[in-house]
Amino acid sequence: MLEGELSRAAASAVPDSGIGTVLISARSLAEYRAMFALSDAALRRRLLDCPGGAASLTAEVNAAGGDATACDPVYAHTSADELAAHAHADTDRGNRYIRAHPEQYRWSFFTDPDDHYRRRRAALTRFTADRQAHPERYVPGELPRLPFTDNAFDLVLSSHLLFSYADRLDLAFHRDGIGELMRVTRDELRIFPLVAMGAVSYPYLDQLLAQLADHGITTQVADVDYEFQAGGNQMLICTHRLD
Ligand SMILES: C[S@@+](CC[C@H](N)C(=O)[O-])C[C@H]1O[C@@H](n2cnc3c(N)ncnc32)[C@H](O)[C@@H]1O
Repeated sequence: MLEGELSRAAASAVPDSGIGTVLISARSLAEYRAMFALSDAALRRRLLDCPGGAASLTAEVNAAGGDATACDPVYAHTSADELAAHAHADTDRGNRYIRAHPEQYRWSFFTDPDDHYRRRRAALTRFTADRQAHPERYVPGELPRLPFTDNAFDLVLSSHLLFSYADRLDLAFHRDGIGELMRVTRDELRIFPLVAMGAVSYPYLDQLLAQLADHGITTQVADVDYEFQAGGNQMLICTHRLD
């Protein structure tokens, strides 16, 4: 859908992963907890999941009494059923990709491709039910501009768009996207992973972090106890610099 709109301004040193259009994927709260090293206290903060895709973080956090909102461009034009069908097809596509590229994956969180498929489908089912019951939690929006006021959230989580699709999203998109995610968080932004699809390191990280520092954003690369894509075991933590 958005493929034509995604920024391709600068030629990228990141090779085409072969995945095709950006996947609408469905990760669970358990996967988010591991990817972002989320504590119970962190989950009690005002959370934004952007891009939310078909992930069940928002459903699961709110069901437990928390306060989470998801934001993604796909919420703009698709009913819950249409999105479920699309995300179902993308769960199949993602699963075919990992079976075709076993050298790019590690099996510590998931036990094998069948387990990956089952758990992603379970998250999708949970997402679909919650979006039907609580459509207000699923806000259409597209980086690098989001429909939220400054500091609307305490903690913003951003998984598997930035860095992951660096074969088509340039450095300027990463800088502007992170700047926007920081605008809407009072405290902190966490981004995971720092490798692109294809398990390729992001080659512009030093440049990006320098540009973010120029914009008053402090960054820290932190190891996490989760690795599915080979080398994908780090997150980027961004905070506002206190002058
Ligand atoms: C691989 S999914 C990640 C979803 C979720 N975070 C997860 O980990 O399961 C990538 C998502 O990015 C969304 N997306 C694509 N372009 C975007 C943009 N410019 N701003 C925000 N989200 C975007 C897609 O619609 C898709 O749902």
